[in-house]
Amino acid sequence: MNPTDLIGPASPLGNPAPFWFITFFKVLGLILHMIPMNVWFAGMILVAVFSTFGKNHSLELAHRLSRTMPAVVALGINLGIVPLLFTQVGYYQFYYPAGVLMARAWFSVIVILLFAYYGVYVYSLSVRSNRRTKFALTSAWISSIAFVLISFLFANNFSLMANVNDWIHIYTRTSESGAALGTGLNTADPTLIPRWLMMFGIAITTTAVFIVFDAVFFKRKDTSDNYRKWAGKFAFAFYTLGIVVYAVMGSWYVFGALGESVLNPIGQSSFMKILFPLTAISPGLVWIALFAQRKGLRKATTITAGTLQVFVITLNAVSRQWVQNEEIFKFKDVSQLPVQVQWSPMIVFLLLFVIGLTVVGWMIAKIAEVEKRGAEEIQVK
Ligand code: HEM
Repeated sequence: MNPTDLIGPASPLGNPAPFWFITFFKVLGLILHMIPMNVWFAGMILVAVFSTFGKNHSLELAHRLSRTMPAVVALGINLGIVPLLFTQVGYYQFYYPAGVLMARAWFSVIVILLFAYYGVYVYSLSVRSNRRTKFALTSAWISSIAFVLISFLFANNFSLMANVNDWIHIYTRTSESGAALGTGLNTADPTLIPRWLMMFGIAITTTAVFIVFDAVFFKRKDTSDNYRKWAGKFAFAFYTLGIVVYAVMGSWYVFGALGESVLNPIGQSSFMKILFPLTAISPGLVWIALFAQRKGLRKATTITAGTLQVFVITLNAVSRQWVQNEEIFKFKDVSQLPVQVQWSPMIVFLLLFVIGLTVVGWMIAKIAEVEKRGAEEIQVK
C-alpha cells in the first residue's frame, strides 16, 4: 500500500469557497482561539499551583485568574470552532484520516473537556463565595491537568494530519481485519513534542500579558498598589520563562524536527525569509514592554504589550499555516481543487460571524464596565 492511498478522496463538488477565503478564516480563527486558549492552558496551572502553595499576592493572583477563567474558557472554546470548520472544509482529505486513526483519543476530548470546564466553574464559584474547600482545590488541579491533556491531543491530531508517511504504520498497528480501531496517536512523529511545547511557551507569554492586563484593568477598586507592583514583576519573570520555553522548543521544532522537504521551500520564499525570523523574535518586543514596567504598571504600556502579544500570536498562526501547507501540499495540493462557490452558506456564515463577534465584543464591554464600576455598585443597582 502507498502512504498516499489513505488520503481522503476529493469531493466531486469541489471547494465551496476560494482557497484564500478558507485559509484566511482558518488562520483568523486560530488567532481568536489562541488568545483565550493560551490563558487557560498556562493560566490554570498557575491557579492550581498558587492556590495550593501560594501566599499573599500569588494566592491573590490565583483567585483573580479563577474569577475570569469561566468567561475566558467559554470564549476560547466557541472561537475554536472557527478554525475547526475551515480545517474540515479545506483540509478534509487529511483531517479526517488523522481523526479516524486516533478516533478514541480524539473523541475523549469531549469527556476530558467536561472535567476541565466544570473544574474551572467549581473553583471559580468557591473563590467567589469565599468557601475554598478541598473539593474545589482538587477541581482546579483536575481542570489544569485536563487542559494539558487536551492540548497534547490537539497537537497530536494536527501534527498527524500532515504526517502522511506514518499513517500506514499506525493503521497497520491499530487495525483489526482491515478496520481501523482508532487507538493510534502521533507519538512517533519527531515534530509532536516540540510543536506541543512551543505552544505551551507561547501560552506562558500570553498568560503573563493577561496578568498585567488583569492588574491594570480588572477589579480596579479592590486592587492594591502593592499587588500591581508585584504583578508587574511576576509577569515579567513569567514572560521570560515563556520566551525560554518558546525559543528552546521552537529551535528544536524548526532545526531538529521539520525536515528539509519543508524547510527548503520556506527558505526559497522571500515572504517567509522575513516572516519566520520575525515570528521567532517577536516576543522580544513584548518582553521589552514588560521590562519597562516591572517597577510599576502603566495603562499605555500595558495596552502596547497586549497589542504586541496579539501580533506575536498572529505571526505564529501565519507561520504555522505556511508550514502546514508545505507539509500537506507535497502529498496533494488541496488549494488547486476546483471551486464552486456555495453562496448561501457563505453569506450565512459571514453574517453570523459578524453578529457573533459583535455579541462577544458587547459581552466583553459589559464585563469591563462591571470591573470598572466595581462589583458592589452593580449589586446595589
Ligand atoms: C472543544 C473546543 C475546541 C476547539 C473546537 C478547538 C479547535 C482547535 C483547532 C481547530 C485548532 C487548530 C487550528 C489550526 O491549526 O488552524 C486548535 C489548536 C489547538 N488547540 Fe484548540 N480547540 C478547542 C479546545 C482546546 C482546549 C480545551 C485546549 C487545551 C489547552 C486546546 C489547545 C489547543 C492547542 C495546544 C492547539 C495547537 C495544536 C497544534 O496545532 O499543535 N484547544 N484548536
